[in-house]
Amino acid sequence: MTEHIDNDQITNNLRYRFEYLSKFLNFTSNDITLLNQFAVLLLPRIPVVADTVYRKLLSFDITKQFFLVRNDGFDGHMVKKGTSLTLESAQMTFRKDMLSKYLKRILTQQDWNDAFLQYLSQVGKMHTNQAGSTSINVDYIHINALLGYLEHLLIDVLWTIESVSNQAKHDMIAAVNKLFWIQNDFFTMHYLRTWNGDESTTTKSPSVNKNKYCCL
Ligand code: HEM
Repeated sequence: MTEHIDNDQITNNLRYRFEYLSKFLNFTSNDITLLNQFAVLLLPRIPVVADTVYRKLLSFDITKQFFLVRNDGFDGHMVKKGTSLTLESAQMTFRKDMLSKYLKRILTQQDWNDAFLQYLSQVGKMHTNQAGSTSINVDYIHINALLGYLEHLLIDVLWTIESVSNQAKHDMIAAVNKLFWIQNDFFTMHYLRTWNGDESTTTKSPSVNKNKYCCL
């Protein structure tokens, strides 16, 4: 049997888009439960994961440059020279804290309600040039690389926890993988402009997708 999926809804209604992706990836409430269970195991290790992520981002000048400019909400002492910026600089501690909060939120969320979908989308959008004053213009190549790297770090953490059965590990890894592909779509839809909706609503009245053939 073939299920009809409405392209206009995909590009305008975040809930509809998410439900289509969920059906495609077999992402169910059971995966959310598995992510919540994984969160309990990961929480004590989040500082190490955040350190490892930013060590990676500071190890290349092309990704390091983004951390030499002042960002929203940070009003502490700012290091502006690449040679002086370290993982312990105040602006990096601030960013590590933001990443930790993000990881906690996406893994502990129990109700994937509209506000949560909008959050996942907003995180994607702010890295593009589409988010007005909060845009940070990170090229997608770095997002793609970091999503892959971060997922790998989470799998490594899970793999080393002996108290979890192999079956549970397998199921948690699958759930984490689905989560990352959903988050990846919520990045790429802004980069490829396959999203016409507004972050403040999950539903928009149907309209012709003007950007159907558009990419950057
Ligand atoms: C796995 C992919 C990524 C995820 C999940 C992610 C997640 C986040 C989150 C949750 C925030 C804070 C949003 C907020 O609450 O305001 C943020 C901010 C930021 N991200 Fe990313 N990020 C990713 C990739 C990158 C990459 C590759 C770079 C740069 C090379 C980057 C640079 C930044 C910067 C500079 C900010 C601060 C923006 C500001 O506060 O003005 N991110 N990111």
